[in-house]
Amino acid sequence: MKNMQKAAIIGCGFVGSSIAFTLMQSEAFSELVLIDANADRAEGEAMDLSHGLPFAHPMTIRAGHYDDIADCALIIITAGAGQKPGETRLDLVHKNVAIFRSIIPEIAKRNQEAVLLVVSNPVDVLTYVAWKLSGYPAHRVLGSGTVLDSARLKYMLSEHLDVDSRSIQAWIIGEHGDSELAVWSGATVSGMPLDQFCELRGHYDHKAADEWLHREVRDSAYEIIKRKGATYYGVAMAVGSIALAIVRNEHAVLPVSNLLHGQYGLSGLCMSVPAVVGREGIETALELPLSEEERQALTQSAHTLKSVIDGLEL
Ligand code: LAC
Repeated sequence: MKNMQKAAIIGCGFVGSSIAFTLMQSEAFSELVLIDANADRAEGEAMDLSHGLPFAHPMTIRAGHYDDIADCALIIITAGAGQKPGETRLDLVHKNVAIFRSIIPEIAKRNQEAVLLVVSNPVDVLTYVAWKLSGYPAHRVLGSGTVLDSARLKYMLSEHLDVDSRSIQAWIIGEHGDSELAVWSGATVSGMPLDQFCELRGHYDHKAADEWLHREVRDSAYEIIKRKGATYYGVAMAVGSIALAIVRNEHAVLPVSNLLHGQYGLSGLCMSVPAVVGREGIETALELPLSEEERQALTQSAHTLKSVIDGLEL
């Protein structure tokens, strides 16, 4: 029987431990198991996090082994190398596919019922690899995808327009990486078309704004890595929202990376497009209306990912 309040985090670097820190504050979990190739690291993080529990809610956070994941409802994978300054996410593919070849079978042997949530990069390729190697049904394997990029876009728009980022609906879709795109045609501020709201705030050069906002979102991780070596708080909040959508069966619409089954004319790869997310992972695949330009950019992004996937022997 799977325990809907139990999750495992595999990989306890900055990203994994920041995710644990986010989840412990959500009151949705009774147990978090931390697993890392460096057992001391996992233990140290579990100790440090546990000392915050008197300020949170009653639960257990402990270092563990693969045997401890058998009843987890959610398994979050952050293991793998991160980008170094100047590296793209796709540059990490060979190193991190090799790591997934050792991790995924360990999971699959012990648990066939959980939702696998991949965070390691390149996240879209690794979500596909996790699906292939796990034998899980595709709907229970998803990647954090462009949930973070969409949040970055909302944040930047909120600064530009002086409006609460939570009042903005805007998606970044495609690869979580250099070929991602913004769906400007469907962006709104509480239902008001984005361009109209921009004009209310005295901004009329929509094309120029779209270009710099897209560039800033796309290059955010490079800019952060250049300054502090890694990104982790933003992604931890994004993963927290996906984790809650799953364990609380929220039916939330999120741009997670998932296997495409012909939407947008695409299949045979994982990529981020909005889907309804709940207890069983991807509940319903959606197909957003896109402009012609957006559709072309999405197809191009899919080709980029597909060529990387086709180069792997799975
Ligand atoms: C980023 C990493 C998580 O975009 O890819 O910050």
